[in-house]
Amino acid sequence: MYTRSEPVTAPVQFTFEGRPMQAQAGETVAAALLAGNVGSFRSTPVSGDSRAPYCMMGACFDCLVTIDGLPNRQACMTEIRDGMVVQRQKGAA
Ligand code: FES
Repeated sequence: MYTRSEPVTAPVQFTFEGRPMQAQAGETVAAALLAGNVGSFRSTPVSGDSRAPYCMMGACFDCLVTIDGLPNRQACMTEIRDGMVVQRQKGAA
């Protein structure tokens, strides 16, 4: 479980799996989702196992999500934007 070390001062509104959420402007989608304690970000194509961010620097691809209908977006490399629609990626896109 993660918590923010500082309060949100520049809020950005987005949704994850239809759930309204708030982030700090300038942070990544991965940071926003971790702060929101959403659990897994995706499931693997073969076994369906759950995955969540590991490296937070674009190397592991365990943070793949669907953003505004586009699959295979690296949440750790994507800055959150107001109105973004983020969904778990289920298997291969
Ligand atoms: S957390 Fe490893 S690529 Fe995003």
